[in-house]
Amino acid sequence: MNPADIASWISDAQKAFAAASDLDALKVARLAHTGDKAPVSLASRALGSLSSEEKASAGKLIGDAKAEIAKALAQATEKLEIERDAKVLLEEVVDITLPVQRTHRGGLHPISIIKNEVSDFFIEQGFSVEEGPELESGWLNFDALNIPADHPARTMQDTFFIEPIESGVVLRTQTSPVQIRSMLTQEPPIYMICPGRTFRADELDATHSPVFHQVEGLVVDKGITMAHLKGTLDNFAQHMFGADVVTRLRPSFFPFTEPSAEVDIFFNGRWIEWGGCGMVNPKVLATCGIDTDVYTGFAFGMGLERTLMVRHGITDMHDIVEGDLRFTRQFGVGL
Ligand code: DAH
Repeated sequence: MNPADIASWISDAQKAFAAASDLDALKVARLAHTGDKAPVSLASRALGSLSSEEKASAGKLIGDAKAEIAKALAQATEKLEIERDAKVLLEEVVDITLPVQRTHRGGLHPISIIKNEVSDFFIEQGFSVEEGPELESGWLNFDALNIPADHPARTMQDTFFIEPIESGVVLRTQTSPVQIRSMLTQEPPIYMICPGRTFRADELDATHSPVFHQVEGLVVDKGITMAHLKGTLDNFAQHMFGADVVTRLRPSFFPFTEPSAEVDIFFNGRWIEWGGCGMVNPKVLATCGIDTDVYTGFAFGMGLERTLMVRHGITDMHDIVEGDLRFTRQFGVGL
């Protein structure tokens, strides 16, 4: 344990710490020069076997050496920590001026957008928005609407029947059964619309889809006339197609309205059929327990796909049903 040895332990440790290129390397050097098996540690432990005189002088030397080594370690640690922090700042630098990676958050389908638009328009006028089931009883979808058993709309060609056939359940072919549900459960005055999905056994082509959407409206109150129907349709058409649009009623037939009419719009220079309408057939009112001496009503119904196609000049139904985002994005997200 001569002073020259102790001096070399110090200088070895100082060199090793100074040579460490990062904190991991410094850790290895620290264990070698301050750990249990380091020369100073061994010497420190050997002090016990010395005489008390020798212990005092050697103890001082070793104590000083330990302090020197600790100082060198602290300096090296500080230097390497500063280097590490500078490196982290450089490597993990964030350029907040870079454009963000945009992800598409999704949006409403144009049919949902137009459905909301129609609903908002009627809600503002005090109408309620009603819904009914898509699996509907044949009685509500047909009979209650005065569509007799031999009506062509009931044949296999138009209607999806649910097995077993005796269940009498169909995929609703129109939203009109929702009108019946409202009249059966509410007392007049009734002001309602019912947008929803409807089903018919049609092939998907440019103008047809087996799954499509309708919106129907129903008003039952005292003194309701066809003038109210015409006024309501005028406002509705103007809301959907612009202030310049003109409507016309053309005599037609529906079992559930009497008289019945087709409603046409004059849009982009030509007359276009938009939907059906009429005064609710008193037979239908009576079926629903409404006093036909007191109340009259009007009803109308149109296709939402058709409304969208006419308004936006869409010529192929496939665009609406296929869900290609290049098509749907043109209508905005609608949220
Ligand atoms: N439900 C009819 C259809 O699908 C459309 C319709 C016509 C509804 C006249 C009505 C109405 O409410 O009054 O063809």
